[in-house]
Amino acid sequence: MNNKHQMFSERYETNDAPWDTNITPPEIVDILSELPAGKALDLGCGTGTVIKTLLEHSWQADGVDFVQTAIDRAQEKLAEFPAEDFNVFCHSVAELDTLEGLRPPYNLLIDIGCGHGIDKASNAKYAEDLAGLIRSGGTFMLYIHQPREDSDMGWTPDDVRRLFTPAFKIVSEVFSEDTSINLPSVWYQLERV
Ligand SMILES: C[S@@+](CC[C@H](N)C(=O)[O-])C[C@H]1O[C@@H](n2cnc3c(N)ncnc32)[C@H](O)[C@@H]1O
Repeated sequence: MNNKHQMFSERYETNDAPWDTNITPPEIVDILSELPAGKALDLGCGTGTVIKTLLEHSWQADGVDFVQTAIDRAQEKLAEFPAEDFNVFCHSVAELDTLEGLRPPYNLLIDIGCGHGIDKASNAKYAEDLAGLIRSGGTFMLYIHQPREDSDMGWTPDDVRRLFTPAFKIVSEVFSEDTSINLPSVWYQLERV
């Protein structure tokens, strides 16, 4: 694949993945308390922590991550749940159109720290693919870091607007500091128009 694939693979293999806390962010827990159970897709699902929470809340949930080690750990974490309630795929989110087995239309999309790192040339396609996978009125929870000079990862709020509107409307935009890496970050709740 590419350098980012190698970087993420090595970080999972060497257990240098500080984001992999086994804790589902409160922003996701809160939205699950507001929405009726349905079908969700977690982009860059890592080791399946959020999928587990979704299943515990009676959702059906699929996940995609391009690191096999992460997907293997997700399979282990989710082994107690009925197989028909979830799928985890080892695949790039930049190529969702070639992934067989997804179950659109989804009611809820989740991207916690994944899309903002894909190649810039794939950003518009990623946004289009997501718009095609979610039902009208569906919710998209997006967590991004803002760009920094020494990295090619990150989206600005303008990037989010350019990529996701008008197919999605912005319901909320909450700025904070990711204290684990001292980076400005933003939680978005978007709604498919
Ligand atoms: C910062 S981690 C967050 C993981 C997970 N969402 C969580 O909160 O624990 C970003 C994840 O996105 C995955 N990822 C990055 N680029 C990807 C791509 N192009 N396709 C699929 N997964 C990708 C990485 O392997 C990693 O698991």
